[in-house]
Amino acid sequence: MKTIKIAIDGPAGAGKSTVAKLVARELGYLYIDTGAMYRALTYMALKEGIDLNDEQELNKYLMNHSIQLINDGVIQKVEIDGEDVTDLIRTPEVNKNVSLVASHPEVRKTMVKIQQDLSKDQSVVMDGRDIGTYVLPNAELKIYLTASINERAKRRYEELIKKGFQANLEEIIEDISLRDKRDKERATAPLKQADDAILIDTSSLSIEEVVEKIMKLVHERTGGET
Ligand code: CDP
Ligand code: CDP
Repeated sequence: MKTIKIAIDGPAGAGKSTVAKLVARELGYLYIDTGAMYRALTYMALKEGIDLNDEQELNKYLMNHSIQLINDGVIQKVEIDGEDVTDLIRTPEVNKNVSLVASHPEVRKTMVKIQQDLSKDQSVVMDGRDIGTYVLPNAELKIYLTASINERAKRRYEELIKKGFQANLEEIIEDISLRDKRDKERATAPLKQADDAILIDTSSLSIEEVVEKIMKLVHERTGGET
């Protein structure tokens, strides 16, 4: 049976994971959060005291351990060698360091291989930064989601407040801007819209409206054979 791949890329807070999860659920496809994989490696490297500039050591760690994404109904759990790190990979320390870890070409090469293996022989919705450009270059549908920096930071701010954490909007703007800059300017697989990706600016759209737009595109591309 033919499998369908949907690639969703874009900067932090654009709504990729929220929307990708809903689209995957609606279609009955597997959802793969590639950012969670870079976050998991960053968390473990910090915990193990690995120098985040040491590309070889980071890559060795990645090759010798297993990162698992477990779709548990609504929530996607992330485990490393069976240890649940779902909440631990979303701390400010991981936020600050993840784009450095993700800048190393050897690390990216190994990650891309793992991600391609995960999506082999099945229909997937995968979100990240280089999915349409490198991981799934032949995806049936490529979306580039974006929104203004103020809107993206506001979403992250509201997320934290809702969870009962303290948050500072200026700090979030700074954190996201720095991460976006690093992701866009890195030499290997930088964040950029694939030539054949469709741009959706979500600044003034609700989650439901974005999902609806993507579902319409999926049906157009697949002739309703989903
Ligand atoms: O959810 P948020 O947009 O904050 O970030 P994420 O998707 O969890 O990704 C965290 C970081 O991982 C990004 O800022 C990138 O540095 C890196 N990443 C990447 O380089 N390539 C991917 N395919 C996914 C994430
Ligand atoms: O994965 P990415 O970093 O692109 O974004 P996210 O983690 O899905 O976070 C987006 C946040 O903005 C979530 O709290 C969503 O509820 C909210 N949001 C959205 O995703 N899309 C909209 N159109 C409006 C709000």
